[in-house]
Formats: sequence, structure tokens, C-alpha cells
Amino acid sequence: MKVLGISGSMRKDGNTADLVNVILDRCHAHGIKTEFISLSGKKIHPCLGCEKCKEKKWCVIENDDWDDVIQKVLDCDVLIIGSPTYYYDVCGHLKNFIDRTYSLYHDRKLAGRKGVAVAVQAHKGASRTIQTLEGFLSTHEFSSLGCVKGKGYHKGDVLNDAEAVQNAQKIGDKIVRLVKRNHH
Ligand SMILES: Cc1cc2nc3c(=O)[nH]c(=O)nc-3n(C[C@H](O)[C@H](O)[C@H](O)COP(=O)(O)O)c2cc1C
Repeated sequence: MKVLGISGSMRKDGNTADLVNVILDRCHAHGIKTEFISLSGKKIHPCLGCEKCKEKKWCVIENDDWDDVIQKVLDCDVLIIGSPTYYYDVCGHLKNFIDRTYSLYHDRKLAGRKGVAVAVQAHKGASRTIQTLEGFLSTHEFSSLGCVKGKGYHKGDVLNDAEAVQNAQKIGDKIVRLVKRNHH
């Protein structure tokens, strides 16, 4: 079993990355293989809406980093997908990444994996961020292992949100139990 965490924030080591990593650390501590990817610094063009992927079953855009990241998603069993809340929703960079996965939808290439949605807000709006992320997961037929909402503004703030950290740890423990069960 492989657990992949993605933060869509342009802050490489920001609050979203922190909260996603709380879950990954919990898994790693129990010997589970984990990987973290920040979309910060990655070039991800928006979906062109060309519908060519319906034939090709893959995105036709080739000159960016989407391929490498989605390959890691295809290789994982559990995806933790996190976003900062921007105007009551996911940030644009992550939305571009998500929109491009339409190319994998036609054949349900992502189906059967498990997913966790993570969102950070300064004050409000994270519920809708979670809704968008869960919409992405359920469209692709991931089964949900839950979600975590955290509060923070400056980098590192979210680690002071004790409830969010605890919820993230609980989800980490849930993944650990799942992996242990699959190994028996
Ligand atoms: C463009 C922009 C839009 C934002 N919109 C919201 C918002 O609608 N609601 C909110 O609570 N915080 C909002 N914030 C604050 C971020 O969600 C908050 O700083 C968060 O911790 C950033 O996470 P990160 O460190 O992972 O990037 C916004 C920040 C930016 C830069």
C-alpha cells in the first residue's frame, strides 16, 4: 500500500502541506510507504476542453508536469489531496490539476482508490473547498476515508489548530488500520 499526499498550494511548506503531512507522518511511523508532492513550482496548464482525451484516454497537453504527478496518483492506493481555501474554494492551481484528470474519467482509471480531502482556511470557506475535493474524489470513484478542515493564515499556523491536527492524526490511524487489515 502506498499513501500519496498532494498539496495544491503555491506555498511549498505552507499550512496545507503541514496538515497533509500530519496524516502522512502518522502512516510513515507505522512503516507505511508515503510520498508527499507539492504542486508549488510545478507547471500545470489548464484543461483546454478539447475533448480529445475521450479518444486518446490521456490528456493531450504534454509540455508540463501534470503527467508526472498523475502517474504518482495512479500508483497510489490512498490519495490525500489538500488545498488552501481561496475565495471559498480550492486554489486555481489545484483546480487546473483536477480538471485535467477528466482525461482519466472516461475509462475510470482512478477508480477503486481511497481518498481524503484536506482544506485550510484563514476564517471561512473551507467547507466548500472540501465539497469540491470530495466531488473530485467521488466522480473518480474513490471511496472516502474522511476529510480534515484546518484553520491558519500565516505559514505554520495550522499546527496550532489542535482539533485539526487531532482529526488528521485520526485519519492517519484509520489508514494504518486499513493497511494492517489488508496485510492479514
Ligand atoms: C488568493 C487568496 C484567497 C484566499 N481566500 C480565502 C477565503 O476565501 N477564506 C479564508 O478563510 N481564507 C482565504 N485565504 C487565506 C488562506 O486560505 C490561508 O492563508 C491558508 O492558510 C493558506 O494555506 P497555505 O499556507 O497552504 O497556502 C486566501 C488567501 C489567498 C492568498
